[in-house]
Amino acid sequence: MTSSSGASPRVVLGVCGGIAAYKAVEVCRRLVDAGVHVTPVLTASATKFVTPLTFSALASEPALTELFDGPEAIPHTRLGQQADLVLVAPATARLIGAYAAGISSDLLTATLLATRAPVLVAPAMHTEMWEHPAVQENLATLRRRGVGVIGPEEGRLAGGDVGAGRLAAPEAIVAAVLERLGPIDTSSASSLAGTTVVVTAGGTREPIDPVRFLGNRSSGKMGHAVAAEAARRGAHVILVTTASAGVPDGVEVVRVETAQQMADAVLAVAPRAGIVVMAAAVADFRPRSVAGTKLKKADGVPEIVLERTPDILAALGAAKPEGQVLVGFAAETHEVCANAAAKLAAKHVDLMVANDVTAPGAGFEVDTNRAVLLDSAGRVDEQPLMTKAALAAVILDRISKEQQ
Ligand code: PMT
Repeated sequence: MTSSSGASPRVVLGVCGGIAAYKAVEVCRRLVDAGVHVTPVLTASATKFVTPLTFSALASEPALTELFDGPEAIPHTRLGQQADLVLVAPATARLIGAYAAGISSDLLTATLLATRAPVLVAPAMHTEMWEHPAVQENLATLRRRGVGVIGPEEGRLAGGDVGAGRLAAPEAIVAAVLERLGPIDTSSASSLAGTTVVVTAGGTREPIDPVRFLGNRSSGKMGHAVAAEAARRGAHVILVTTASAGVPDGVEVVRVETAQQMADAVLAVAPRAGIVVMAAAVADFRPRSVAGTKLKKADGVPEIVLERTPDILAALGAAKPEGQVLVGFAAETHEVCANAAAKLAAKHVDLMVANDVTAPGAGFEVDTNRAVLLDSAGRVDEQPLMTKAALAAVILDRISKEQQ
């Protein structure tokens, strides 16, 4: 299965509070490995057993825990509408009861009520609770409504007890999810074979003297994520970067510092690239002259005169070979779409990835981003908050569509 966007199928993984919550980590990892886009949603009790950070590190998007106070106003409707399947593992007696009764009291129960996607629950609880008529009647109600129930098994339970109520094995849960989703299209794994992709990353440093520079907060994470995803899809990737972050396997790296060095490196290789992605934060200005020796306080406050740096993206747009897809990023703080659309037109870009760098969880340094994709045909595609790795996949999926 692919989701409606043509990308990986999307599964919301609900995790309730119980000792079996640690097994949901393995479920999450296995689903991601199988090509599923996983969004973890943890209940408050789940966070007593496992941390959201564990899931954020393994899943396709950061783990969510809050119906209110999170970065999104109405996360449950977005999750419910976008999901191809909702899995709750482990599902506690409380969750099963609330879902059967239609009570929405937290992000997970609200998402369950806000989705029309298939739902699978994998119960886990002590034998006495599992066999309680209230739990069995609630499950019968859910089954009647089409909810799939996975397990539970007999075996060791918390506190050394043995009996029915143990969470089904992670491999059995994952198999049930994959069966319900149907075949997953993993053709993206080699979709860029034979294509050269040039990616820039990081913030340029424009020297003032031998020890000082004008710079910005770019960590290179966004660009490195694009490079990693392009390499995973079989491309020959040339990463022109100022960042010291690790370089993905199989990627050819060119280390640069200044906008001029980045321009020289990119413009030398771009003519043979099928795709160029300018994720770097390139300085717009640099000191007109660079002091040969360290500026001394005793000499007074220096006056630094600035001049423009080369606009690499504009130069790429002006000399774009037939068939090349040119992608720019727009780092905005206000009027995001309007400003990004103006840059797209001015620099002859095919796809502009606009991010509001003042939004929580987006922009510089963080591991997540929230972007709007604008193309030269005027289409505007707003993406939710997700990891930079997931956004890289969205961008490359979009480019593949553009090239078809
Ligand atoms: O590196 P991270 O910490 O992960 O942060 C990611 C990011 C915020 C840096 C990234 O998502 C991003 O927004 N990159 C573009 C930053 C930027 O320079 O935006 P801009 O709106 O000023 O420039 C628009 C485009 O022109 C960009 O593609 C930029 O690379 C390019 N440009 C800008 C100036 C210049 N002299 N030459 C250029 O090529």
